[in-house]
Order: sequence, then structure tokens, then C-alpha cells
Amino acid sequence: MRQNPRFAKRMKDVKESLESNPIQILTSPSDKCPFHKCDGTGWIWIKDWSKRNTNEKDEWQEECECYEQLMKQKEIERKLDLAQVPPIFKDATVNSFDIKRYKKKESRDTAEIARKAATNYVYNFKTMQEHGKGLYLFSEVKGSGKTRLISSVANALVKMYGVDLAFLKADDLLTQIKKTYNDNANTSEDEIVKLFRNVEVLVIDDIAVEKPNEFSERIFFKVLDYRMEHRKVTLFTGNKTIDNLGEVYIEGRVHSRIKKMALEVYMPEESIRDDEAEIENKELEKMLFG
Ligand SMILES: Nc1ncnc2c1ncn2[C@@H]1O[C@H](COP(=O)(O)OP(=O)(O)OP(=O)(O)O)[C@@H](O)[C@H]1O
Ligand SMILES: [Mg+2]
Ligand SMILES: [Zn+2]
Repeated sequence: MRQNPRFAKRMKDVKESLESNPIQILTSPSDKCPFHKCDGTGWIWIKDWSKRNTNEKDEWQEECECYEQLMKQKEIERKLDLAQVPPIFKDATVNSFDIKRYKKKESRDTAEIARKAATNYVYNFKTMQEHGKGLYLFSEVKGSGKTRLISSVANALVKMYGVDLAFLKADDLLTQIKKTYNDNANTSEDEIVKLFRNVEVLVIDDIAVEKPNEFSERIFFKVLDYRMEHRKVTLFTGNKTIDNLGEVYIEGRVHSRIKKMALEVYMPEESIRDDEAEIENKELEKMLFG
């Protein structure tokens, strides 16, 4: 059968080109790769046409320039996942902490100082960590943004320094431990305490909201005493000043440790939550009642 001469010519060109340059990149570059070299997976497939029909390997993968960066990013995503920051504050940043949301001038001034302190804390984290110092965000009023701001500090520490972090509602720790007293529980108090003693950075949200009781004081003492001795950073939020923690932890051992472990930052005594709820409800009520 006679071959189409143009097709034959094309085949000859391809053959010649493969002979002069038998190494071919099979991966199509994509914008997902910051260097525009791989398809975003961090790997590049290579084929060596000269090895075809031989016993040698003719296809293999090589690391792209973006590989290490990609692995670091994946590791950070994994750490963020493990940290368990409340889902609504998963993407919260210190920069997006909005001072204009507070209506009173006094609140805006306090919020400005708190935001600045949070930013400075993040930038000076290495020094803070050497000294084992965390933050203690305080306001008596609920819904003033304490959890929002501490979450954004936590997110920044994982993203910028790759720290291992655990976010914990104080009350959840106590509940988790109480559950271990059931006969069929598969963890023990010691195991849970050990976990939170050892994590590199621990956030305890809403410390001392419980009524004074020997049990919670004993648990927080066990966790915090170890963390203080090992200079591990703990970040707190609470609705009592550090000085007033003695009202709940009456033996004074928890209270004095927190004093040593954290720098106190005042949050505005104004609720954004109430305001937020009002706006949100107004919108949805329109849907309901027209
Ligand atoms: N500065 C801010 N910018 C934007 N949103 C904010 C800000 N501060 C708080 N909010 C919003 O206000 C609500 C209440 O904030 P948050 O839960 O942090 O308060 P809190 O002080 O921890 O309250 P509680 O004492 O009840 O734990 C949240 O929905 C949060 O998104
Ligand atoms: Mg809170
Ligand atoms: Zn790449």
C-alpha cells in the first residue's frame, strides 16, 4: 500500500527529532505549579525514547522545583486540620480582625491595642516561645471577639512557624476526662492529660468559666504545671482577669502558674455577637415575613 507522502514525511521528522533529543517531558505544565513546570503534583514524568524496546527503564518521575514548597504547604494544612480551631474561625487572620465593628470609641481603642499585641506576639513568637510565654485574652462581656482573635493568632503560628497546636475548649477537656471514668472507656485521664501537656502550643479557650471545684483545679494544675516547667506556650481566653482566677481555682496553684505563663491582653467590653445576631436575624426575618 502506498503511504501518503505528507504523513511519511511527518513520521520521519518525528523519528529524527526523537533520535536527536530522545528525552521528552510527558507532564503538561499548569498554573497550579508556581514554577509552571509540573501539573501541580510536584512531580514531572519523563520519557526516554532511546530506551524504548530495551530492558532499561524508559519512563520515570522527577521532583519538580515546587515539590518541597508543596510538601511544606501540605504539612501546614495537616497541622491546621489537627489543631481543631473552631470551624467558623478556620480562616480568621489577625489582619481581618475588624476594629470598626465595635460601636463605642473606648472599645475601638481597646481593640486596636489588642490587635497590635496579637500581631506583635506573632512576629516575636520565637522569643516568646523561648520564655514559654503565651497570651491571656480577657473580657467580662461575652461575644467581644476573644475566641476570634486567639484563633487568628493560632492560625498564624501554624502557618508562619509550622508549630504543632491544639485548640481546646476548657470545658471540653473536663468532659473528655470525665468520660474516661466510664467502665468501658478506652482512654485514661493520664493519656488525655499527657496529650495536652506535650503539644507544642496549646490554646485553652474559656478558662475558669466553671464553678469552683476540686476536679477542674486538679486537671488544669496537672496540665499547666508541666507546661510551665517545660516552657511550653499556652494561649488562653477567659472572662475573669488573671488576678481574679483565684475565685475559681481557690488553691491558687493554677492561678499563679497562668500568671507566670501568659501576658494579659484586655479585650473590649462590648459584644459583637449581639450586634451580629441582630443584623443576621433582620435579614432572615425579611425572608420569613416579607
Ligand atoms: N473584630 C472582629 N471582627 C470581625 N468579627 C468579629 C470580631 N470580633 C468578634 N467578631 C465576631 O463576633 C462573634 C463573637 O466573637 P467571639 O466568639 O470571638 O467572642 P468571645 O469573646 O469569645 O465570646 P465568649 O465570651 O462568649 O466566648 C463571632 O461571630 C465573631 O465572628
Ligand atoms: Mg469565646
Ligand atoms: Zn511544580
